[in-house]
Amino acid sequence: MTIIVTGSSGLLGTALVEALRDDGARVVRLVRRVPEGDDEAFWNPAKGGVDQTALEGAEAVIHLAGAGIGDRRWSEGHKRELIRSRVEGTRTLAGALAGLGAKPAALLSGSAIGFYGDTGDVAVDETAPAGEGFLAQEVVVPWEAETAPAEEAGIRVVRLRTGLVLSGRGGMLSRILPVFRMGLGAPLGSGRQYWSWISIDDWVLAVQHILKNPEISGPVNVTAPEPVTNAEFTKALGAALHRPTMPLAVPGFVLRTAIGEFAEEGVLTGQRVLPRRLLESGYAFRHTRLDEALAAVI
Ligand SMILES: NC(=O)c1ccc[n+]([C@@H]2O[C@H](COP(=O)([O-])OP(=O)(O)OC[C@H]3O[C@@H](n4cnc5c(N)ncnc54)[C@H](OP(=O)(O)O)[C@@H]3O)[C@@H](O)[C@H]2O)c1
Repeated sequence: MTIIVTGSSGLLGTALVEALRDDGARVVRLVRRVPEGDDEAFWNPAKGGVDQTALEGAEAVIHLAGAGIGDRRWSEGHKRELIRSRVEGTRTLAGALAGLGAKPAALLSGSAIGFYGDTGDVAVDETAPAGEGFLAQEVVVPWEAETAPAEEAGIRVVRLRTGLVLSGRGGMLSRILPVFRMGLGAPLGSGRQYWSWISIDDWVLAVQHILKNPEISGPVNVTAPEPVTNAEFTKALGAALHRPTMPLAVPGFVLRTAIGEFAEEGVLTGQRVLPRRLLESGYAFRHTRLDEALAAVI
């Protein structure tokens, strides 16, 4: 089985490619530089170019490319890049797949639970509509919409609405670990905002489950079944590290000043998301409890 992966050098792509290869798949990474070896092929997401011969005959495509959402301040330029890298990349790929003679059976396309905006305490599943705000309306909705040509061409399209992936090798958890290790971890803002997390092991296994189950299509929340509030997350992470946490929360205005607009949508508000499609399709989570997941990844 040949599987094409974009964004394969990222946190999720690296873990997924390793697991797919261990499972016996031939993985071809679409890269934005000169390919090195038979297991890489070129694509230029911004200019609409893809090595079509590499795509011909592949059984599935997993599309994870996009500029990092939470790794730097949201300047106007970076916000444009967040949109552009996702919209243009998905347009390029979905258009190329739709035009192939031998089309892949499935396109699993990256997305995010930011689709739902700020849900407050309300738990949402895949039937919920898009929320408000920059991430939902300007990034995720247009990003998902670009998969339409592949769907119209008869390819099974799954939109991977990924939550906060917990890994010790990168992503948000790795960025906050040093602060917690110093005993300086604290709730952020009200602490009541929900963080819908998933362990990196479950993210990879869930994607493999989706690949192997052709009846799954459309949006799929890739999150663990028990989202927690930011205050609960803070407590659990302190406990996992055997470190105290601060009793007082970091006020919202401090975060807005320190990290800019991302503070509002990425940190101070959140989504309480349920993985209904994964559970209904029989996926058995390895880590349903946050303490178990943190123990596994730290
Ligand atoms: N990690 C999470 O917690 C999380 C949560 C929700 C959603 N997601 C989404 O899932 C996808 C993968 O996440 P990740 O954590 O693996 O991200 P990541 O570590 O930032 O990796 C993304 C990859 O995309 C490619 N890329 C970077 N900048 C790009 C640009 N300007 N244009 C086109 N491609 C670019 C790079 O791969 P190449 O250099 O190999 O092309 C990069 O390694 C992303 O779309 C992300 O938004 C992740």
